[in-house]
Amino acid sequence: MERKKSENVVWHEGKVKKEDRERLLGQKGVIIWFTGLSGSGKSTIAHEVEERLYQMGKLGYVLDGDNIRHGLNGDLGFSPEDREENIRRIGEVAKLFSQLGIITMTAFISPYRKDRKRVRNLVKEGEFIEVYVKCPLDELKQRDPKGMYEKALKGEIKEFTGISAPYEEPQNPEIILETEKETIEESSKKVINYLKSKKII
Ligand code: ADX
Repeated sequence: MERKKSENVVWHEGKVKKEDRERLLGQKGVIIWFTGLSGSGKSTIAHEVEERLYQMGKLGYVLDGDNIRHGLNGDLGFSPEDREENIRRIGEVAKLFSQLGIITMTAFISPYRKDRKRVRNLVKEGEFIEVYVKCPLDELKQRDPKGMYEKALKGEIKEFTGISAPYEEPQNPEIILETEKETIEESSKKVINYLKSKKII
């Protein structure tokens, strides 16, 4: 999408570095990028991880698709272009949060591989952790807590991911969570264990 470029702006480097803030917090600032179909469990698991981190004295924060679309991205719909812009903005916000040293979790469908890749490339190697929250479509149609799959199947919601709009599965995610088979506790523990294994916490 073509947008006006800011001119005559110069990047200003602060004196306090990411490493300094990380030392202060006793953790590494990373982006944990949850991706998956609507209703797969992205937000639920991210919030569970956030709470577990809090109990361990670690600082995490969840940027959640449905919430962000009320404010910052309230001007965006669900066309491929709007989804791209949604993920681009969230990627930039998540980068800022991770620079603060916060374990930043995002819960967006983020259906396009290239958009997720672009966020990965915003930060250093190892600072972007892609988590594929996997769940079969049949199970999601059964769960359907917001009644959206039913509406999408009737054609009442257009371009609905998994029904009338594509979802491109991650090819090499750092973590896969299978929410049809695992409990929320098991899935969130997997994420915490990954963070420990990489010495992020
Ligand atoms: S994304 O594709 O741009 O990453 P995002 O995660 O922000 O999507 O928003 C998804 C949420 O918006 C869904 O959980 C659902 O509640 C709602 N929604 C409304 N319309 C659609 C649609 N056409 N496709 C997918 N989700 C939709």
